[in-house]
Amino acid sequence: MLEDTLVSIDETLDMAPLDEVIDQYIGQQGAVIPVLQRAQGIYGYLPAEVLQHISKRLQVPMSQIYGVATFYAQFYMAKRGRNTVRCCDGTACHVRGAARIISTLENNLGIKAGETTPDYRLTLEVVYCLGSCGLAPVAVINGQVVGRLVPEKITELVRELK
Ligand code: FES
Repeated sequence: MLEDTLVSIDETLDMAPLDEVIDQYIGQQGAVIPVLQRAQGIYGYLPAEVLQHISKRLQVPMSQIYGVATFYAQFYMAKRGRNTVRCCDGTACHVRGAARIISTLENNLGIKAGETTPDYRLTLEVVYCLGSCGLAPVAVINGQVVGRLVPEKITELVRELK
């Protein structure tokens, strides 16, 4: 069951930079979260091999490592796109047409919300209220808030992403 949800990778990962991080935390209480954060900083996400390596070296059961990695939204278990588009579907955005923005992107990109394009150009996410309700419907493209969206505008903005 646990193995089914873990993402494995084809390429061989260089664990040397991760080992350097782990060396700093071995024997310390509460090491799992900072090590996972640093590991994600190195590899961009947390593939199964990395989780297993951390489990072995910190001598923390894999079930516990996996539990932490899946509990916190900051951790990604799958490789992410070079660009991240977060569309808001909170109440204010929803009543102003967020569903059309999201479905436009899904259709244009050929992926569903929560997925990444096969070429890793973009990861599409749906979030619920970005705190900019006055600009609804809103999205955040690579950390930048864009508001008063219409399907044509989001299509144009996303087309420009490399
Ligand atoms: S509901 Fe979308 S920004 Fe608040």
